[in-house]
Amino acid sequence: MLTIALSKGRILEQTLPLLKKAGLEIADEELNSRKLILDTNLEDIKVIIIRATDVPVFVQHGAADIGIAGKDVLLEHGANGLFEMLDLGIAKCKLMVAAKSPDYQQTGVLKVATKYVKSAKQYFEKKGQPCEIIKLYGAMELAPVVGLSHCIVDLVDTGNTLKANGLIPLDHIVDISSRLVVNSASFKTKNTVIKAWIKAIEKNL
Ligand code: ATP
Ligand code: PRP
Repeated sequence: MLTIALSKGRILEQTLPLLKKAGLEIADEELNSRKLILDTNLEDIKVIIIRATDVPVFVQHGAADIGIAGKDVLLEHGANGLFEMLDLGIAKCKLMVAAKSPDYQQTGVLKVATKYVKSAKQYFEKKGQPCEIIKLYGAMELAPVVGLSHCIVDLVDTGNTLKANGLIPLDHIVDISSRLVVNSASFKTKNTVIKAWIKAIEKNL
């Protein structure tokens, strides 16, 4: 039995076609049901669909053998106990610093609003900019506008959300896309079948 953890939302939409091309399908009735463990067209493969941030946690602890999650989420998680095997090239965006003006940096402590605490801390530490991280769970773009922070660290794709809120994309931290990760113990115990799936998915990227 193989359990695959998929991220809800935009990653899921882009993952299902990749899995289908590799031979794994989930019927619409399953996807539209309230079930949390979904059957697939293959008897020995189950799929769980969970919040993006929970995917590496399930994989790390072996509750799922394989997971698909954004690099942003994996960087925050730290990727303990799992191997990043494949860049799927989907849900592409950039992790960036954005602010109301290019001279957002402070001689004192810079207030940074973000849900990417670890990545933001690392980035400003490297630059030698003292910072206070204000952890948010969404609507980061609001923070500089209402004076909660000097800047934000968030994902940027089209830049429309920043623009709509009067913010400018400034510093590029890292390119983001979704990755296939594997539980390190499963990679040993289920090596043949996992490698075969990775190959099948990779072939169709
Ligand atoms: P949660 O509901 O758990 O807070 P979320 O709202 O971040 O998750 P999504 O918006 O579906 O969930 O984003 C999931 C993943 O998709 C992110 O971790 C990132 O890798 C990618 N992503 C997020 N925003 C964009 C975007 N604008 N363009 C492309 N990819 C994105
Ligand atoms: C993500 C991200 C930005 C937006 C960037 O939000 O947090 O707000 O996309 O995309 P853009 O540059 O194309 O405008 P999402 O749409 O996932 O909403 P959420 O943060 O509320 O989940």
